[in-house]
Amino acid sequence: MPAQILDGKKIAAEVRAEVKEEVSRLKAEGINPGLAVVLVGEDPASQVYVRNKHRACEEVGIYSEVHRLPAATSQAELLKLIDQLNKDPKIHGILVQLPLPDHIDEKKVIDAIALEKDVDGFSPANVGNLVIGDKCFYPCTPHGCMVLLEKAGIDPKGKKAVVVGRSNIVGKPVAMMLLARHATVTICHSRTRDLAAECRQADILIAAVGKPELITGDMIKEGAVVIDVGINRVGEKKLVGDVHFESAAQKAGWITPVPGGVGPMTIAMLLKNTVEAARR
Ligand code: GUN
Repeated sequence: MPAQILDGKKIAAEVRAEVKEEVSRLKAEGINPGLAVVLVGEDPASQVYVRNKHRACEEVGIYSEVHRLPAATSQAELLKLIDQLNKDPKIHGILVQLPLPDHIDEKKVIDAIALEKDVDGFSPANVGNLVIGDKCFYPCTPHGCMVLLEKAGIDPKGKKAVVVGRSNIVGKPVAMMLLARHATVTICHSRTRDLAAECRQADILIAAVGKPELITGDMIKEGAVVIDVGINRVGEKKLVGDVHFESAAQKAGWITPVPGGVGPMTIAMLLKNTVEAARR
């Protein structure tokens, strides 16, 4: 039987509606949640992401300010802005859009964001708290994957989860979150000896490698839940995931489409984290 579709667009809309209600409750208590987004340079994809983040904030009633800085901005200037935002009581969340220009040390910049305002969840302190199971912000994309699982009624407890990809932004944090929910977790990467054999073990398969259609139907266990984080551009217009959708959907029990799966969840989770930061 073909897989059921995990509709990220629909689930993200539900999350945004919940966030909107929470924003109203906070405003009634005199708290006006605020997000600052910092964009350095003119990367076209980043410009689109930042615009979408700003719009999404407006839609749910979160105050949002976008700081667009020229590509030649020095690291010191950027750090000074972050320091100001750290101290600004209107701002509960700070997000510095990545990638940054080469002359800026990304790690230094992320580390400069106050821990209680790190709504992206990328700072070493936040990641440390995630690993030890302490209070933290869940990074937005992995958090989106977990909410998709939850909405599909899938409890990771005792299940075999395979994460393909070991990035700091998705692979590693999602593996930690699955572990915290009592899954048995394997992380695969470019040096994994037999990727197909590992994937075939997975009750939950998370693909986050950035390789178009790497995971094919023959690598999927019958009935598995397949979450595809990849967004790969092939040719002029077509977007495909890290999973070959047509063949995978013949084996999986649940599968996310690309586009319309994990993608819409990321911004919804950013809104959720911003509200959480304001609530704290
Ligand atoms: N660039 C691509 N994705 C992201 C993200 O989730 N957060 C930030 N800050 N930059 C990104």
